[in-house]
Amino acid sequence: MADIAVTEVSKGLRDAIARLETGENMESTGVVTRVGDGVAWVHGLRNAGYAEVLEIQTKQGVVEAFALNLMEDEIGAVLLGSDKDVVAGDPVKLKGVVLEVPVGPELLGRVVNPLGQPLDGGPAITTKENGLVERPAIGVMGRKGVHEPLMTGIVAIDAMFPIGRGQRELIIGDRQTGKTAITLDTMINQGRQKTGVVNIYVAIGQKLSKVARLVERLKQEGVMEQTIVVATGPSDPASLLYLAPYAGAAMGEWFRDNAKHALIIYDDLTKHAVAYRQMSLLLRRPPGREAFPGDVFYLHSRLLERAAKLSDELGAGSLTALPIIETQAGDISAYIPTNVISITDGQIFMETDLFYQGIRPAISAGLSVSRVGGDAQTKSVKSVSGRLKLGLSQFRELAAFAQFGSDLDDATKKQIERGQRLTELLKQPQYSPLSIWEQVASIFAVNEGHFDNVPREKIKDAQAALLAKLAKEHRKEMDALNTGSEKIEADSATGKLLAKVAVAAAKGFEQ
Ligand SMILES: Nc1ncnc2c1ncn2[C@@H]1O[C@H](COP(=O)(O)OP(=O)(O)OP(=O)(O)O)[C@@H](O)[C@H]1O
Ligand SMILES: [Mg+2]
Repeated sequence: MADIAVTEVSKGLRDAIARLETGENMESTGVVTRVGDGVAWVHGLRNAGYAEVLEIQTKQGVVEAFALNLMEDEIGAVLLGSDKDVVAGDPVKLKGVVLEVPVGPELLGRVVNPLGQPLDGGPAITTKENGLVERPAIGVMGRKGVHEPLMTGIVAIDAMFPIGRGQRELIIGDRQTGKTAITLDTMINQGRQKTGVVNIYVAIGQKLSKVARLVERLKQEGVMEQTIVVATGPSDPASLLYLAPYAGAAMGEWFRDNAKHALIIYDDLTKHAVAYRQMSLLLRRPPGREAFPGDVFYLHSRLLERAAKLSDELGAGSLTALPIIETQAGDISAYIPTNVISITDGQIFMETDLFYQGIRPAISAGLSVSRVGGDAQTKSVKSVSGRLKLGLSQFRELAAFAQFGSDLDDATKKQIERGQRLTELLKQPQYSPLSIWEQVASIFAVNEGHFDNVPREKIKDAQAALLAKLAKEHRKEMDALNTGSEKIEADSATGKLLAKVAVAAAKGFEQ
């Protein structure tokens, strides 16, 4: 029985190939020879280019695919839809375009798949423009230095590892260490501070329930109108997971190229690399070592190069990228992490130990770095953050051997206590990004020693009291401070005001 069926199929296929080869259009037509696991092999189509869209005419309708393996007599194509209707012998046509997605402001507030089709049950999306999914990055002359801040609202980041618009900052750490939480707070902050920065959140193989919760939160916070969510779940074909970040980048580039500012989050690129490996194996690229396939580096470098701060001639728009990478047992020296670390302008490293000690966000002060954001940091934050970093690093050094002895001299004891208070201060619950003046006032109060008599466990209460008092009684000065242009010194008018209120706020909590 089975033998007859196989013979029939292969006869049908042979006939289809014979018809194809006697016809004139081998350049732009072909025939499916094998199919399975979301990959189709096509005979013919001599003119196909890399990432070009193919249309497979099945009995049930057209299924689109894109060409990835171009070989002498055969093409390996990845299906964009289900492979269940595609059979050997189906005719294939070149669509004559490379893969594009809808781009533009019409997508704001929507949840879409990597092809720009709605997943939120809303109406179909019609945009005026389409953007190329694979597009070369802007060249050197089209760019300029990163110089405007992208405020995350997370004090530890804005003060110590500032991010500038157009920068690429990696967020890296083990699972469940608060990586997504940081990016969610950053998106919320763009809404609260009315920065006008558009958020694009790309979920790569994330549980859809998690994505739904995130969207719910964005709505609740009122920032969904300035956000686009590109979502793929674990059960989506690898081809969609592979496309998701490039599609998101194309959507972000529209804002960048129209003199606006956008922030894109890739959550996460570890799953993206896995999807690409899966596709590569199915496409029969020869497997090798851990570094399989050989172009994983190129996969991520060409993606992250699309984040940029454009030159004035090009409108000075920006696309900032926050890729996420998941590590195993804190190992940042594995293949994918080292790749992405070398492509980005710095990393925020999340430490599992800190997370479980309750120091959240669990940002490692020693292993995190931001290489270009310093130029973008606001003057006010910069003027208080130098001493914050110094205080913390001295604290880390001293704390290590202070565990062994109790008879420390007064100066050392003081530094340790200051460090403990700074550590307390940098703890920040989720969904509570702070504005510039709130960050400056808080750091200033601890740096200047105004909270030295407040016990450690009361530091957050004292901070809250300080901020409430300032917001209520000194609104005008705080609004001015919020522009970030003032350098804060202890003997300046603002410095004196902050000191006065800090001393008063501390009173209620001192022992
Ligand atoms: N600053 C914070 N304060 C308190 N809880 C937090 C904080 N940040 C994250 N959490 C909590 O920690 C848990 C893990 O956070 P999150 O999902 O952001 O981590 P993740 O690293 O993205 O995890 P995964 O690896 O599963 O993607 C969540 O329950 C979250 O609510
Ligand atoms: Mg996460």
